[in-house]
Amino acid sequence: MRLFYAIFLPEEVKRVLVEAQERVARYKGWKEVVPHHLHLTLLFLGERPEEDLEDLLALGHRMGRLHPPFTARIRGTGYFPNEGTPRVWFAKAEGEGFLPLAEGLREGVREILGEEALLAGGNKPFKPHITLARRKAPAPRVPPVVFGVEWPVKEFALVRSELKPKGPVYTILGKFPLRGDHGREQEESARKRSQDH
Ligand code: 2AM
Repeated sequence: MRLFYAIFLPEEVKRVLVEAQERVARYKGWKEVVPHHLHLTLLFLGERPEEDLEDLLALGHRMGRLHPPFTARIRGTGYFPNEGTPRVWFAKAEGEGFLPLAEGLREGVREILGEEALLAGGNKPFKPHITLARRKAPAPRVPPVVFGVEWPVKEFALVRSELKPKGPVYTILGKFPLRGDHGREQEESARKRSQDH
């Protein structure tokens, strides 16, 4: 099964992005991502055997326990690739929690499934983004959109993607609340140490 870890968006953020998608709607070559699919990929795993699922769910829970909730922001749009003919039009996301979470998942997958499991996503550096539209046929670039939205990221998910002629079908296989117990444990042991003195 084709898998990835991702963060889905609250309704009010999706509404803002859907409004921005109107800019490409008039061009047949751009295909907008449907609102319920709008997401930010933390790690793309590609095709994995079903037997990996248990480990990948356990890793999600472990990373959720380790990493605290954080605030995410969307400010503007961009293209992949930036130069030449674009394939993807995306909204750029910022937030201090994205990179540690993506790196933690990457390290965890390397530990439990080996380096080979990381090849699917390529060796591209992690760039937190939400794909708004994919270019399927010649279509122009659209002017940038400036956003001012933010939201609290409280959980992420392991998602299965089935590629169908009408587009992908996503199924959430597991949801992992962000708890940040690791930080809390450190704080508590520091507090205990200071009480002992
Ligand atoms: P994208 O939105 O930038 O295309 C499901 O395909 C998700 O995994 C998408 O969000 C996609 O990012 C991401 N992804 C990352 N690497 C990918 C790859 N090599 N092939 C397909 N999807 C990939």
